[in-house]
Order: sequence, then structure tokens, then C-alpha cells
Amino acid sequence: FCFGVQRAVNLAYEQKNKERVYTYGPIIHNAQVVEALEQKGIYKLDNVDNITDHSTLIIRSHGVAPGVYEQAHNHNVDVVDATCPYVRKIHKIVERHKNNGDTIVIVGNKNHPEVIGIRGWAKNECIVVDDAAELEKSMFTNNKDICIVCQTTYRKDKLNDIVQWIQNNYKNVTVYDTICSATAERQEEATEIAKQVDYMIVIGGKSSSNTQKLYEICSKHCHNTVCIETAEELELNNLKDSDRIGITAGASTPD
Ligand code: F3S
Repeated sequence: FCFGVQRAVNLAYEQKNKERVYTYGPIIHNAQVVEALEQKGIYKLDNVDNITDHSTLIIRSHGVAPGVYEQAHNHNVDVVDATCPYVRKIHKIVERHKNNGDTIVIVGNKNHPEVIGIRGWAKNECIVVDDAAELEKSMFTNNKDICIVCQTTYRKDKLNDIVQWIQNNYKNVTVYDTICSATAERQEEATEIAKQVDYMIVIGGKSSSNTQKLYEICSKHCHNTVCIETAEELELNNLKDSDRIGITAGASTPD
């Protein structure tokens, strides 16, 4: 686990003796950890409007939009905030620039919970972009200062392409490289390993964004790359002709 996920999982386990404890969405993108928490009576909830009053709600490391805190407050819910401090930092940057009247550009996947949360801090008036080609098709008109932030698990090379394109086409651009160092280091190490091996195994949740990005990166350098969530998914026969095998794991993969 990276620091932020470890912190969120620890905080969740600390609530296990309370009654009516929920996480807002799965605590992390790992089915095995979510199941283990359910066995302790901690269930995921997708909509805070349905929560029973006076329950406990754990906000996961991806963070949430300000409206979720308001909903929780309206239900007299005890909030345990496990938002990763690195994600919280992005919320603060976006909130400040929004209050200054700047145009906010979020680089990331618009459907990812972390990005949905960040959008909320921009009052949902922002541009979300996932690749440079997309931007070229839909150039936006703008006469304000631009603030660019990035999903913490985004690929550095893709961020650079997008920033370059925006800087070439607009003035007064402030860039915050908010890619988490845990993610960036993991991506660099995975690249180095994938270049040297015959077979590369990426371990992590099917819905874990950073795991899927590691898989994309490794596939570029090693054609025999697989992504597995559990040991049972590994096809051992495929490994027979491999002299060197590389292994990496996403930030939400349990030890
Ligand atoms: Fe936080 Fe980085 Fe993990 S942003 S949740 S420490 S990948």
C-alpha cells in the first residue's frame, strides 16, 4: 500500500467496533480488502442521502466533493476523513484558484472518484481532459488565467503532452504537477524492470487506476505483460520459457 491507502485502511479498521459504519464507495479499489472489511461489519455506501442518521462515514483516500460533507452533516453523521493529504492539497489549490476566478483544468479521467471529488471543489465548472488529442478537437475559449492540476495517479508523459499543448495555445498558465511521488516512482521503476524481463506481472485491482496504468506502461516495454488481481489468475504455463520475470503492484494492492 502507498501511504495514503495504508492510512485509509487503518482508519477503517479502527472503526470496526462501532455500529453502522460505512465507507463512501469502496475504501480502496481492491475487492479482497473490501470483502475483509465487510466481514467486520463495514459496508460501502454509494449515496450519502440513504445513510441512517448518527452513523459513521469513512471518506476514502480519493477524497470527495464538498457537497458530501454537507450531506453527512445534515444526517448528523460522524465523518472519519481518510482523504489522502496529497489529494486534499489538490482540493485546496482548486478552491483557491476558483475563488480567484481562474479557469480550472483537471488532467485525469472524468469518471474516476478522485477527479469527481476535485471537480466538486471547482464547483463543477472546470475542464477535465484525459489526453492531448481530445483537447485539440475541443479547443476552449478563454480569457482568464488557467490553473492545471492532475489526478495523483496520472501518467507523467501524458501530463507533459497536455501541459505543453495548453502552454502553446494559451497565456498565463499555472501548472501544479500533483502526480503523487509514490505513483511516479513506481511507474519509473516498473518501466526499468519491464525493459529487462521476458515476462512482467502487474498485481492489483481490476478497477484500480494506478494498477491499470502500470499495466499500460509495462506493456509498452515488455510484450508478455499480464495484470492479475489474485494468484489464482496467473497462468503458470506461460512462464515456462521466461528466464527473467518482473513483478510490480499497484498502490492499493495488499502486501
Ligand atoms: Fe495518496 Fe499517492 Fe496513495 S496520492 S492515496 S499516497 S498514490
